[in-house]
Amino acid sequence: MEIRQISAEERLTTSFPLQAYAFMPSPWSDEEVERYRKRMRFFTTTTSLIAEEDGATLAGVAALPMRQNVRDLVHDMAGVAGVASHPSARRRGLVRELLTRLLRQMREQGCTVSALYPFRPSFYARFGYVGIPRSRTARFTPEGLSELLRRDLPGSVQRLPIKEGFEAYDVLLHRLLADRHGFAVFDETRSAEVREEPMWVALARVGDEVVGGVRYRVDEHGGDLLASNLFSTGPLGRALLLQFFARHVDQVRHVEVLLGADETPELWGTDMTVTTTATVDNPTHNAPMARVLDVPGLAGSRVGHGGITVEITGDELIGGVWTLGADDGQLTVKPGGIPAATLTAGGFSALAYGALDPVEVVTRGLGDLDGGAVDRLGALFPRRTPYLFAEF
Ligand SMILES: CC(C)(COP(=O)(O)OP(=O)(O)OC[C@H]1O[C@@H](n2cnc3c(N)ncnc32)[C@H](O)[C@@H]1OP(=O)(O)O)[C@@H](O)C(=O)NCCC(=O)NCCS
Repeated sequence: MEIRQISAEERLTTSFPLQAYAFMPSPWSDEEVERYRKRMRFFTTTTSLIAEEDGATLAGVAALPMRQNVRDLVHDMAGVAGVASHPSARRRGLVRELLTRLLRQMREQGCTVSALYPFRPSFYARFGYVGIPRSRTARFTPEGLSELLRRDLPGSVQRLPIKEGFEAYDVLLHRLLADRHGFAVFDETRSAEVREEPMWVALARVGDEVVGGVRYRVDEHGGDLLASNLFSTGPLGRALLLQFFARHVDQVRHVEVLLGADETPELWGTDMTVTTTATVDNPTHNAPMARVLDVPGLAGSRVGHGGITVEITGDELIGGVWTLGADDGQLTVKPGGIPAATLTAGGFSALAYGALDPVEVVTRGLGDLDGGAVDRLGALFPRRTPYLFAEF
């Protein structure tokens, strides 16, 4: 068995049949192959590894080069995708070998963190990943926002085909990348596919500044306005976009929009009828998972106060003893010390991402902490809700 890195063009004959078999209706048609071939220009910067035996591809994994904000520091992130093995080669450890090599390589290339959408979280928990919140879907009737129609808000909303509005939308995404914990974006090559989608973008502006943006389509007259994530730099940007949605009252019955886990759409209007859901039903509806690939790379993150020495066990990438502290609210990291707590890679990642409280780390079996360590880790890594947003 040999492992090697392949180019985007090679994916068509090597990893595509594995992925198509695993994730698509099959047998697949020639049109599907052609559609995939055309999409490969968006994957030229993706790192793809395959395992081969006697000329046959048995398994494949890939990492998209992305960027992610973790506690106010923006990192290179490996967005893991396309993980699949041939049914006759499963449970031979091929994906374990591939994923281990991929994560090692991505860390060498400078990635501090990694995220993915798991078919089954327990599989990736073995690789040090831990769950982070999935986006919420809010479904509401535009009538609930009617009071916004009477407000004269200091800004405007412009509707454009995404092809025309992409640059302004992308500027907004990069602003949110700098501001919002957990937020992740694709590189230029991969995000270029968004331009090609048959979608509108509504851009909220105050003066020259883009303060909100949402991609959407309308499925039919009297049907749904189906939007992706509602992005805004603050409440005014959001109100401008909601006011824009409210203007569709005679045209669509419902609006559906994706939100971060900390949003409260029930507070958007007085007479709101809204259902907010977050369905996790593997393998088709997944909450993302994330992990740290490099502990010193987190130095400078915005944390709480205090400090502690921890031992991270059972992980090739971040295993070892680390002395963590806070200097004026910024994380400091030094190797070595006398550990006062033991964490798995998943337990450490859960704290770094603010996804779990130290008590939950213990109850989930991701660490061995006494009362003092619980308090110190809680003070250093206060809970925060990460919002990954990007789907891959
Ligand atoms: C999931 C899949 C990629 C695993 O590939 P594989 O080559 O069989 O995996 P490995 O043999 O390397 O197994 C790695 C580890 O995961 C465990 N494992 C394998 N399949 C598992 C499963 N379905 N659920 C939980 N654990 C699993 C193995 O026991 C092994 O554990 P260990 O190394 O701690 O002993 C493969 O079954 C597949 O292609 N499934 C369909 C596509 C899919 O769902 N891909 C994932 C998309 S996110």
